[in-house]
Amino acid sequence: MAKGKIKKRSWAEPFKIKVVEPIKMLNKQQREKAAKDAGYNTFLLKSEHVYIDLLTDSGTNAMSDNQWAGMMLGDEAYAGSKNFYNLEKNVKKYYSMPYFVPTHQGRAAEHMISKILIKPGDYIPGNMYFTTTRLHQELAGATFVDVIVDEAHIPSSKAPFKGNIDLQKLDKLVNEVGAKKIPYVSMAGPVNMAGGQPFSMQNLRDVRDYCQKQKIKLWFDATRATENAYFIKERENGYENKTIAQILKEMCSHFEGIWVSAKKDLMVNIGGFLATRNKKVFEEARNMVVVYEGLHTYGGLAGRDMEAMARGIEEMVQYDNIRARIGQIEYFGNRLEKFNIPFVKPIGGHAIFLDAKKFLPHIPQSEFPAQTLAAEIYIDSGVRGMERGVVSAGRDPETGDHRYPKLELVRLTFPRRVYTQAHIDVTVESIVEVFEQRKKIKGLKMVYEPKYLRFFQGRFERL
Ligand code: F0G
Repeated sequence: MAKGKIKKRSWAEPFKIKVVEPIKMLNKQQREKAAKDAGYNTFLLKSEHVYIDLLTDSGTNAMSDNQWAGMMLGDEAYAGSKNFYNLEKNVKKYYSMPYFVPTHQGRAAEHMISKILIKPGDYIPGNMYFTTTRLHQELAGATFVDVIVDEAHIPSSKAPFKGNIDLQKLDKLVNEVGAKKIPYVSMAGPVNMAGGQPFSMQNLRDVRDYCQKQKIKLWFDATRATENAYFIKERENGYENKTIAQILKEMCSHFEGIWVSAKKDLMVNIGGFLATRNKKVFEEARNMVVVYEGLHTYGGLAGRDMEAMARGIEEMVQYDNIRARIGQIEYFGNRLEKFNIPFVKPIGGHAIFLDAKKFLPHIPQSEFPAQTLAAEIYIDSGVRGMERGVVSAGRDPETGDHRYPKLELVRLTFPRRVYTQAHIDVTVESIVEVFEQRKKIKGLKMVYEPKYLRFFQGRFERL
């Protein structure tokens, strides 16, 4: 092979498609009506009215044949299901935590850990908030304090580890309120609301050293931990030859415990868990789970769900899987870049986050530019994304005012193993079309606002 020799080989998905689910696109008039009926909130659209569903990667994944085979081996005993023990074994092996409690999804684990560790009046520092995580911390009586590095709030900053914790910010909080008022530092990686941005292992070690010195616990939202591990392998010196499983293990070794929404990394449709090396916390969680979820050997899950999770753990650490997963997002981002579409850089782990402030600069944040943009993209092509801006940020519990986050984003999130490159191309075309028409787009006003997590159920009208 002399002439035309291919130097750099590209990746392809390490699977082929065995089952398909038909999708269809409504016409423009029907999409206009569907958007209006949904109060311009993509969470309120009917799934059958959506063409390409990039709302979330949560529980929307395609399971493997091996996971489906495991579903048939569900042991639906009320107590002591064998699938529980299979799952426990893999949580211990891959997340290297000795104690484990299953829950029906991530927020149930957040609820328990917040109740167990937080006293009213406490402070929880974290690398940017996540909606449900912060709400459970607040409901337990804590005040959340964002201690992420400044770059995380700047969409155009290309820093490789925008999920890092700023130790000066953390130290400032400790000096202000005292370490005794900080039961734990809440660390997530990659950071969802920052655009799927990872933390580095070095930053994690520094945070762990600091926390040890101050006698503050360190807990990890490990929901998309293998994506963080992949970025460490790609970007951090000394990790290029380590496996995803080794990096995941090393990450987890620095925490007292983790909570996980299994609906992401584990490539299942439902599930979550809490795992820890602290026996006392474990015993409390194991007792609490029977109040809110179910017996501690099923935690609100069917035996078959636990089997799919156990098998998903083995698949999530396979390099080819995670490379194809993140490779899809990279492909999407690189295509958008060609058309100068503003989005959060570097390209993140699970989604592209369009920068709605730059996309629709004529719409003030009080008129919900990201909410508007998500609705306009749906109307253009039936592609569904979600708002991650002022609506998601909610109101300050003290003042009752809107919280105006620096980031006003529309998230287009890829379910794992579900869509092809052609789906991405169609999505890019739609975004480019909306971008070309952007000057004609008007903002929204909120006409219904629920008390908790208003982005899920809030309703809007066009101005
Ligand atoms: N932590 C992170 C980082 C998450 O992204 C989520 C959910 C949760 C916790 C809560 O888990 O949904 O299983 O109760 N994120 C979804 C999303 C909803 O679309 O990003 P859950």
